[in-house]
Amino acid sequence: MPYAQIEGWGMHLPSRIVPNESFVKMGLDTSDEWISSRTGIEERRLAGHNEATSDMAVKAAHRALRSAEAHASDVDLVIVATCTPDHIMPSTASLVQNRLGARRAGALDLNAACSGFVYALAMGAGQIEANRARRVLVVGADELSLHLDWRDRGTCVLFGDGAGAVLLRAAVEPGILKSTMGSDGSGADLLMIPGGGSRYASNGRNGSNNSGGRYLRMNGAQIFRWATQMMSRAAEEVIHDSGLKADQIDLFIPHQANLRIIESTARRLGLSEDRVFSNVGRYGNTSAASIPIALCEAIASGRVDEGDNLVLTSFGAGLSWAALALRWTVPIEGHPSRWTPIRQTFESRMAAVRSAMRRQQRRVRASLDERFRADGG
Ligand code: COA
Repeated sequence: MPYAQIEGWGMHLPSRIVPNESFVKMGLDTSDEWISSRTGIEERRLAGHNEATSDMAVKAAHRALRSAEAHASDVDLVIVATCTPDHIMPSTASLVQNRLGARRAGALDLNAACSGFVYALAMGAGQIEANRARRVLVVGADELSLHLDWRDRGTCVLFGDGAGAVLLRAAVEPGILKSTMGSDGSGADLLMIPGGGSRYASNGRNGSNNSGGRYLRMNGAQIFRWATQMMSRAAEEVIHDSGLKADQIDLFIPHQANLRIIESTARRLGLSEDRVFSNVGRYGNTSAASIPIALCEAIASGRVDEGDNLVLTSFGAGLSWAALALRWTVPIEGHPSRWTPIRQTFESRMAAVRSAMRRQQRRVRASLDERFRADGG
């Protein structure tokens, strides 16, 4: 049975930085002191007007392919974990697959809200372990800022936008060790964006006028209590199932939602500060992108070495949670060849040309069919 290992990683953050002070300037009844002391968040990034989830996902994915020196055409499956897709359909993953030029790959979105990336990583690894794929690109990308009510101080200060990606490959040594996924739909109402789906349809079909339905709503205190328990429970489960002890965990990368949740989870697991990664201060909660962004930054800051045991744990709307233990197997130092970015640019252009040609071909074929029918064929 093949194993799955991470061989490439990449992230993208929008350039617009919004510090806590901006909310005060907007007239919101809050303060930098309140936000940073209750959440650890100091600033977050927000996507630009023309920046959709797939735009961020493609940039993160390109970087992941580049760090692995892999070709887009080597990828068998693209999974995009997101709860803020570009469209209800098609999947954001199909848009990413097309723009990367991953022409052999299947593509699907996975929605487990903030838990989505760890879910997707476990599913991608499963495809490799079942011998159904050799390379899987797993992206976590979200743009929750589109669903924030900027008058609601209890939610709008918490979230940011971004994307992160990893490339998984088949290998003879284990990388991904164990994973667990869970859900408790009895808490679905605690964190939701009610509109945009079939329950509160915008055409009013289900008796709804959809007012306010596009905004994220949350019971922060209940989520907080549940998350502090769930995060440590899920982490303990994968640590135990992997045959590891807590003191063998070199780095714990939890979902970046609130520093107090992260610290409480680390205390429950008995992990010292130097074995816990957090960047929630700079990005806020980026939903499905939070863990891959944290992983990339942990790698860039020298916190991950070959042979290290890592534990990723996430929680989110659903309620949903997931945890995954992995052994880091690839050298960090390897610098991609200087030709790689040039090759990637060439591949992206070729992908755009191929995509345009296919569209054109379909148009020509459709008009020929029409003429044929009109001629009584
Ligand atoms: N600025 C100032 N005051 C604020 C505020 C803000 N941005 N947001 C909430 N408050 C107020 C509340 O209105 C409340 O006021 P009241 O006592 O007059 O009613 C007071 O602060 C305390 O609210 P409380 O909810 O008890 O605060 P808290 O310490 O629990 O922190 C959260 C609130 C939202 C930061 C915290 O509950 C949390 O992080 N929950 C988890 C949310 C999360 O992770 N969601 C994403 C899941 S993926």
